[in-house]
Amino acid sequence: MSGRVAGKAALITGGAQGLGEAIAWMLAREGARVAVTDINAPGARAVADAINAAHPGQAFGYGHDVTDEVQWAEVVDRATADMGRLSVLVNNAGIGGDLRWLEDDSLDHWRKMQAINQESVMLGCKYAMPHLRAAAPASIINISSVAGLAAAPGMGAYNATKAAVWMYTKTIALEAAKHGWDVRCNSIHPVFIKTAILDPYVKMAGGDEAKAHERLMRGIPLRRIGEPDDVAYAALYLASDESKFITGSEIKIDGGLLAQ
Ligand SMILES: NC(=O)c1ccc[n+]([C@@H]2O[C@H](COP(=O)([O-])OP(=O)(O)OC[C@H]3O[C@@H](n4cnc5c(N)ncnc54)[C@H](O)[C@@H]3O)[C@@H](O)[C@H]2O)c1
Repeated sequence: MSGRVAGKAALITGGAQGLGEAIAWMLAREGARVAVTDINAPGARAVADAINAAHPGQAFGYGHDVTDEVQWAEVVDRATADMGRLSVLVNNAGIGGDLRWLEDDSLDHWRKMQAINQESVMLGCKYAMPHLRAAAPASIINISSVAGLAAAPGMGAYNATKAAVWMYTKTIALEAAKHGWDVRCNSIHPVFIKTAILDPYVKMAGGDEAKAHERLMRGIPLRRIGEPDDVAYAALYLASDESKFITGSEIKIDGGLLAQ
């Protein structure tokens, strides 16, 4: 540990597993306090307990549905009280799901995707901002996707939410700058990373994970899918003051996919 985010206090949504869990561990290892939140409350608490076993007193775990405005207000207040401040927000919670081409899609599915992947980011930015301003220099990190920058058939709802998060990130960055607040806002755009979100692809490959991964990596120049820490390292950089002149920007973590 080199303390790259020592003194920072970060709230990470969707932290019970996958990328959120990896980001929480990464920030804690580098000295931050972390509030791990998830709709899976026992999962969030289990991650916080595991982090505390390695880094005593650094982690807190709460149940938190990111689509619920009332819960957002409560969770940011609680996290700020428990950690003493809130200087980093990682809007990570999100869902992927099955491929759905237009005529098989439904308004219910579309709205669910919007609520979890997109509206949650607005709510997080809105309710965290007063705390972030008070703890500046501060950083908001929104987990979008390569799917927010490039479309794919069958991914209309997901594409739309992740593109919205990409653009919304820039709006918030500019608003904060205009106000003279030292609260930066950036987005991260991963390609396929090895988490449970890839389960539908494994199912499509008849439960054969290796076969699914082989299919997914075909279009990726580096010919592999990513590890959660590939994303967590980018979040660490954006959370730290090393990135103090970067706002309204995006980091692609895609093995070269969108360079083609
Ligand atoms: N893994 C990838 O390949 C990949 C690629 C690009 C972008 N992403 C994005 O990264 C983020 C994290 O995904 P992951 O791969 O870790 O997936 P994951 O399914 O492993 O984890 C997502 C977490 O979000 C939580 N969650 C779902 N709905 C929620 C809600 N309403 N409120 C609070 N928490 C909720 C889940 O309980 C889970 O713990 C998502 O936004 C996803 O779109 C992932």
